[in-house]
Amino acid sequence: MKKTVIYYFSGTGNTWWVATRLAEALQPHHHQVSIHSIETLMLEDVSAELSDIDHVVLGFPVYGSTAPRPMLDFIHTFPAANGRQTITIFATQALASGDTALMISRMLAQKGYLVQQARHFRMMNNLHLPRFKFYPPKNDYRSERLLARTLPRVVDLAREIATGKKHITGNNPLGHLLGGLQRRHIDALIIKASAEFRVDQKRCILCGKCLRICPTGNIRRAQEQLHFAKDCVLCLRCYSHCPTAAILLGEGSADVHKYPRYKGPGPGFNVDVLIK
Ligand SMILES: Cc1cc2nc3c(=O)[nH]c(=O)nc-3n(C[C@H](O)[C@H](O)[C@H](O)COP(=O)(O)O)c2cc1C
Ligand code: SF4
Ligand code: SF4
Repeated sequence: MKKTVIYYFSGTGNTWWVATRLAEALQPHHHQVSIHSIETLMLEDVSAELSDIDHVVLGFPVYGSTAPRPMLDFIHTFPAANGRQTITIFATQALASGDTALMISRMLAQKGYLVQQARHFRMMNNLHLPRFKFYPPKNDYRSERLLARTLPRVVDLAREIATGKKHITGNNPLGHLLGGLQRRHIDALIIKASAEFRVDQKRCILCGKCLRICPTGNIRRAQEQLHFAKDCVLCLRCYSHCPTAAILLGEGSADVHKYPRYKGPGPGFNVDVLIK
């Protein structure tokens, strides 16, 4: 019985969905799998668990052909490999990831992990703001259809992990070009866009949900008002899951018909699974 651990960061649920499906798909291959959101972990827990693990999986959403800051921070403190541990990196994407998984896998290779898989999975878009209005998120049958197309690819990944097959995507001139171009701009874009968060005081019912679910503790409450600090990673969790759509990102975003919020993979998705 091989021991596999899956660590993931998911802003709005897509990466959580792939990670949980992968865990299920590995069971028939006699992998004993544990799965954790990195938001719930302490470094000591990771070090203790890793000492006994054969295969590690890291999953995250692609943000401008790199990983979100919480995952990059996690990787920087990630313990070095213990012996011949293998690793899979997967990224979820809306359209294109260039060489994201490969680029991140190299960071883990430097820590001694043997890179077995670097993969991208197409999932629903969660980024729909006045600045990026060309590709609205889908919360209907179209997202179910896409999940049905992605699932067999996740099952394939499980089989390839089990058989030890190597599979690296994005290692071609176009992948490197797209990845390099996107990475050059993403940090500035996140800083600029996240400075535009506003709360519509008329809509906000002060339920506290956004404070509870923000992965970086970026939202504070003072004198019956919410304030955004400067630690936003633009995961869009608060924007997508405020029950009254009171969180705005640019003027047009007050109109939820024009700017629908992404509600996560499949009907009935509960954002609380991401912080458990
Ligand atoms: C800040 C930001 C940047 C993104 N950049 C890209 C990108 O470069 N390429 C892409 O295909 N999707 C991009 N997306 C879309 C997400 O990667 C995609 O919807 C992902 O599956 C979301 O996963 P999650 O629900 O686990 O957060 C971006 C989303 C955000 C919020
Ligand atoms: S989730 Fe929405 S309604 Fe609740 S406190 Fe935050 S902004 Fe206000
Ligand atoms: S403020 Fe909102 S978008 Fe920014 S990190 Fe927190 S939940 Fe994510």
